[in-house]
Amino acid sequence: TPPERIRNFCIIAHIDHGKSTLADRMLQITGVVEERAMRAQYLDRMDIERERGITIKAQNVRLPWKVGDEEYVLHLIDTPGHVDFTYEVSRALEACEGAILLVDAAQGIEAQTLANLYLALEKDLTIIPVLNKIDLPAADPDRYAAEIAHIVGCEPEDVLRVSAKTGMGVEALLDEAVKQIPAPQGDADAPARAMIFDSVYDTYRGVVTYIRVVDGRIVPRERIKMMSTGATHELLEVGIVSPEPKPTEGLGVGEVGYLITGVKDVRQSKVGDTVTSQRRGATEPLTGYREPRPMVYSGLYPVDGSQYPDLREALDKLQLNDAALTYEPETSAALGFGFRCGFLGLLHLEITRERLEREFDLDLISTAPNVVYQVTTDDGTEITVTNPSDWPEGKVSEIREPIVKVTILAPSEFVGTIMELCQARRGQLGGMDYLSESRVELRYTMPLAEIIFDFFDALKSRTRGYASLDYEEAGEQVSDLVKVDILLQGEPVDAFSAIVHKDSAYGYGTSMASKLRELIPRQQFEVPIQAAVGSRIIARETIRAIRKDVLAKCYGGDISRKRKLLEKQKEGKKRMKTIGRVDVPQEAFVAALSTE
Ligand code: GTP
Repeated sequence: TPPERIRNFCIIAHIDHGKSTLADRMLQITGVVEERAMRAQYLDRMDIERERGITIKAQNVRLPWKVGDEEYVLHLIDTPGHVDFTYEVSRALEACEGAILLVDAAQGIEAQTLANLYLALEKDLTIIPVLNKIDLPAADPDRYAAEIAHIVGCEPEDVLRVSAKTGMGVEALLDEAVKQIPAPQGDADAPARAMIFDSVYDTYRGVVTYIRVVDGRIVPRERIKMMSTGATHELLEVGIVSPEPKPTEGLGVGEVGYLITGVKDVRQSKVGDTVTSQRRGATEPLTGYREPRPMVYSGLYPVDGSQYPDLREALDKLQLNDAALTYEPETSAALGFGFRCGFLGLLHLEITRERLEREFDLDLISTAPNVVYQVTTDDGTEITVTNPSDWPEGKVSEIREPIVKVTILAPSEFVGTIMELCQARRGQLGGMDYLSESRVELRYTMPLAEIIFDFFDALKSRTRGYASLDYEEAGEQVSDLVKVDILLQGEPVDAFSAIVHKDSAYGYGTSMASKLRELIPRQQFEVPIQAAVGSRIIARETIRAIRKDVLAKCYGGDISRKRKLLEKQKEGKKRMKTIGRVDVPQEAFVAALSTE
């Protein structure tokens, strides 16, 4: 297809505003999927995605569309919809010239959508604003058209109105896409350059890599080269998706499709990388490539220690499909053998954990998540800390922690309570805008560590669910942080060590100590629980002693009963972890680590 007949676009929308439904309707209206083969949400393939109603992995599809007598090819590129995947979103946007900004006509725009809209504007994409769900009685299109026009800088009349559910307005939307979105530009005679915007592992075919060709042509039976590593691969297949994969004779300037090499691991075919041909390779890669970098770390442990090998195997398998997931073995006195895992963010952690439990039938405990700290010790050594246990002993001269730019959208009545919350989390107000009389956008700079804990829940409960949140990386800052250890009988319990701001150390210490006092059963001796910063004790609780002499009940007589009791005690012991001399049931650790 000649580039002037191609239009590449994506849909930017908040969860539940109807992106999948609109994509489904487009598949149907363009005749790509027959009506009876149409199942809801054709493009969302992963079970968890469907259940949780979020899009994790991008899918894209080629749609034929006629305007008058002219035939066009539209490529719809699906973007992942969550903060943790901002980089993937930015690559998907890079593959497009236009974006449909889809907003629920009964809800208005949300923080997530706004953040992605800003990304799209930065990349100079043509934005087509669209209100969806106008069939709903609760829809208030006039009000939200004004709001969107204000944000995008267009006239309220320019905001299209559709119902993805009934199909109303969708044909007009496709016509507008052809009319407004510029055709792709590139040099057809230059050496091939294509950008990878997604890469997924398929059990049968190995890694399937989705690309957008910028220059030249990608043809099958030619070796390709990944420009970030120089690795070359034989091309087994090149094709388009419409809606099932179909091999083609090649992809030219502006075209979107997939390629398959023999590669079995998505880390060899990374999002953002440039593909060229080995024989006549390009010298300059496309801009914007970045290695996936974990932002949040947590320890994952099997509840049942014998599942450790299964956990390793499961992680190996998941990593084939997830270039951002990292892990290495670690041991904890409290939790036994497990892995320290790196994630893009909290949702990434949650999804991974859920997949491990669900798809691999594992029962897991995860330790409190932490961010990555850069610590300079007094003798000038630089240490990267991804685990509280790596925190250097002794004096440090500087500690840097990652910060993020946070965007919060909420009804204006909640401004006060949101500001309070953000200040308590060390937030710096960057700005505030009224999108309309009743809705406000707040911008903060905040330490990432303050967000990954339970910020989202706190925000939701303070705003009765009305606030929406987004954040993006914004570098790092020097902070006054300390490591708080929790000691049982003078022995530190590794799983509970945390790095917190100096001012929060006392709060963390007292709450952990009192939680543990409730959870740990009494022993035959007194057990002190302490919270300490270095050698300084900042909080203390005591578990009083009891004499738990079960055998005393047996009057020396019935020997079989005695044996049974001893057996039972042994059973119980198995699930105990011994810290110093103290037996602690594993459940106590699990309960203390859960954030309610
Ligand atoms: P993710 O894929 O999870 O990001 O969500 P989404 O934005 O794709 O939302 P989805 O298409 O799953 O739609 C969310 C809900 O809104 C579903 O229950 C749809 O049936 C419903 N919905 C979507 N479009 C319309 C519409 O035009 N009218 C009405 N009444 N409901 C709609």
